[in-house]
Amino acid sequence: MKRLAILTSGGDCSGMNAVIRAAARTAIANDVEMIGYRKGYAGLLKNDYVTLDTRAVAGVLQRGGTFLQSARSQEFRTEEGRKQALDNLLREKIEGLIVIGGDGSLNGALALDRMGFPVVGIPASIDNDISYTDMALGVDTALNNILYAVDCIKDTASSHDRAFIVEVMGRNSGYLASTSAIATGAEFAIVPEVEFDLTEMCHQLRRRYEEGRTNALIIMAEGAGHAQDISDSIKNCAGFETRVTVLGHYQRGGAPTVFDRLLGSRFGCKAVDLLLSGGKGVMIGLSANALTTTLLEMVVNGGQKKLSDELVHMADILGI
Ligand code: F6P
Repeated sequence: MKRLAILTSGGDCSGMNAVIRAAARTAIANDVEMIGYRKGYAGLLKNDYVTLDTRAVAGVLQRGGTFLQSARSQEFRTEEGRKQALDNLLREKIEGLIVIGGDGSLNGALALDRMGFPVVGIPASIDNDISYTDMALGVDTALNNILYAVDCIKDTASSHDRAFIVEVMGRNSGYLASTSAIATGAEFAIVPEVEFDLTEMCHQLRRRYEEGRTNALIIMAEGAGHAQDISDSIKNCAGFETRVTVLGHYQRGGAPTVFDRLLGSRFGCKAVDLLLSGGKGVMIGLSANALTTTLLEMVVNGGQKKLSDELVHMADILGI
């Protein structure tokens, strides 16, 4: 192989730059040229790319987001769009493509694989909802962002005898909410995977309030509803003054943690090694700290990764 390409697609996350850098430098070390499409599949459709020589990927490791930029392309979802993408790849003599992104992006990678083009997928989404990997890229940095924000909120909650409802991202997954609730010592985690009993929560909050524990922290996954609705409900039942914080896109940015820099670098090196040795149609994952490969077909058909019962149980009992 003489020419490979890489793109970042869907919602960005910290650590994407580490993958691009590692992939480009691994390619260069093997005398292979690496190009990077701008704005994901949209750039592939417009043939909008940059050559990723050593200098092009210098100084990006510590930066959040993706310097290639990202997008969610509607056009690539159509049959004509996918044919156009394949034509562009072949015309540019690209022999393999690395796709960094979440479930929608990996779906697109599978479509190219089915058209016979060599693709390797890399799981990147703060939601940690992708099957066949313990951790997706960006999750660790997002969790650390949440921790920092919630620790600050806890300080002010204790100064004012308030209950805070903090809404975190995750789309339909409660992973960020459960893990951040455990790591911040929150009293409750509300997640889409588990039916939520408002009356019981009010009862518990009232009991705590009467015992003199006059501040509380509730972490709520965005997929479980609106934090403001929970705030309005507990205002009337628990005795606390309540406040809401929706953390939003703050969670997705910032300098990647050591974990995400290492994971991204490992993913990038492995993706190029795989393509150069004839590997294709797979997603690289992490299991027990070792890199794994799983057919894209299985990843996409596997659906959303299940939230572990252990995490749900811990978040439940540790807040009592
Ligand atoms: O999938 C990542 C994610 O950050 C979700 O947690 C969130 O629901 C969504 O993307 C937000 O998307 P956008 O950046 O398009 O608003």
